Amino acid sequence: MVDIVQNGNPVLRKIAQEVPLNEIGKPKFQKIFKDMSEALHSQYDGVAIAAPQIAVSYRIFVVSGKIFNPDFLEGKTKSEEKGKDIICINPVITKISKDKKLLSEGCLSVRPLYGKVRRATRVTIEAYDEHGEKHVFEGAGLLAHIFQHEIDHLDGILFIDKARDLHEETLEGFHG
Ligand code: CO
Repeated sequence: MVDIVQNGNPVLRKIAQEVPLNEIGKPKFQKIFKDMSEALHSQYDGVAIAAPQIAVSYRIFVVSGKIFNPDFLEGKTKSEEKGKDIICINPVITKISKDKKLLSEGCLSVRPLYGKVRRATRVTIEAYDEHGEKHVFEGAGLLAHIFQHEIDHLDGILFIDKARDLHEETLEGFHG
């Protein structure tokens, strides 16, 4: 079982290192990707996770395939079904909307706090996958917030640094 580190652990505040592209296929990184997915899916409310959250200071995050399930987004199911996890390595934001929106967020590393964070409603990122291939992802709404929350993790930033109305709650918003 892979532990998810909690706020207070210095690894969450480090600037994570880039993954050397010629090493993506090596067992060391393939194991990190597997550990991240495993840690993410151990949390029923998790939608994404960044490598520092499992104490690995590299620029990687994983988005759960379940967020591409419309039933999950509408709150009709907690099912893990549908969609493959997306692994984003060395992600870079290449386009970001001026338009912003407040959305409720939580974090797998800052339980049990929630708060509202104002973020861009659309972002485009470029990232490498687990095979070393480059992709462009366009995220709107929830996915845009997730991309920004996860990339913040890679820069040592937690949502509580930006949130308003911080409070404890058991079921609200997304966790990344
Ligand atoms: Co988080």
